[in-house]
Amino acid sequence: MSVRRLGGTVCVVTGAARGIGLAIAERLAAEGGRVAMWDVSPRRLAPAVADLRDRGHEVRGYACDVAMRAAVAEAMAQVEQDFAAPVGVLVNNAVWAKFQPLAEIDDEVVDRTIAVGLKALMWTMQAAVPQMARRGGGSIVNISSSGALHPQAPSIVYGAMKGAALALTRAAAVELSAQCIRVNAVLPGMVGTAASKAQFDETTLAAREAAMPLGRFGRPEEIAATVAFLASDDAAYVQGAEFMVDGGWTVGVR
Ligand SMILES: NC(=O)c1ccc[n+]([C@@H]2O[C@H](COP(=O)([O-])OP(=O)(O)OC[C@H]3O[C@@H](n4cnc5c(N)ncnc54)[C@H](O)[C@@H]3O)[C@@H](O)[C@H]2O)c1
Repeated sequence: MSVRRLGGTVCVVTGAARGIGLAIAERLAAEGGRVAMWDVSPRRLAPAVADLRDRGHEVRGYACDVAMRAAVAEAMAQVEQDFAAPVGVLVNNAVWAKFQPLAEIDDEVVDRTIAVGLKALMWTMQAAVPQMARRGGGSIVNISSSGALHPQAPSIVYGAMKGAALALTRAAAVELSAQCIRVNAVLPGMVGTAASKAQFDETTLAAREAAMPLGRFGRPEEIAATVAFLASDDAAYVQGAEFMVDGGWTVGVR
């Protein structure tokens, strides 16, 4: 990494044990960020943190269920204490998803999807914003999905949650501008993580990949690169924006 745009900034990344969240944690750390990696699964988190540390990055792991408001407040306070500095960057990446057709949607799936993918954004922002305000500003990046605007069946619950995250991003950008806090969203298209691949059989997966304008699915690092831009001062005038990172999928270029 030639440019280190986050020198010393304390960053929180939720859902950082694997997939896109792990790539975001690594990229922010490579840019000089001091990264708090949050995840609900301590079993997955521990080796991920150890691996980044072994490669010289300043990271710490926090076992935290972002759906639990009190736990989020506690973890955010702990981050400030551990790094001896307030949080400057918050990336809301954690997700819980189950893709069901309309007739099968049940309360449990709706409640968990919304709790982890939407309510949690309010709890993490509530806890991080006072810290950001004390340091004179900050950057919040919410990971939505191309599916929020260009859904593929069956994704009613997931799409509702990701669409609401975009509305939340815009409203928060307006409200938090007074405190010099920027709030933006990234909308990944299909990224080849274990979680996304598990949704499809191999034939469907191959057909979908072949249909991508760039001829392949995205890589977690390619989402992380846009997040790093938004987290940094290079994006100082970017507020309330939505960045589609989908290899041209939703515009259909080929
Ligand atoms: N992979 C894709 O193709 C794709 C496409 C569009 C959008 N996205 C979005 O990108 C983000 C990351 O996706 P991914 O594929 O890397 O997901 P993933 O399932 O691989 O990773 C999600 C992480 O979140 C953690 N998590 C789940 N519930 C949590 C909770 N309550 N508290 C804290 N952590 C929790 C999991 O343990 C896991 O480590 C998500 O917001 C997802 O919706 C992904």
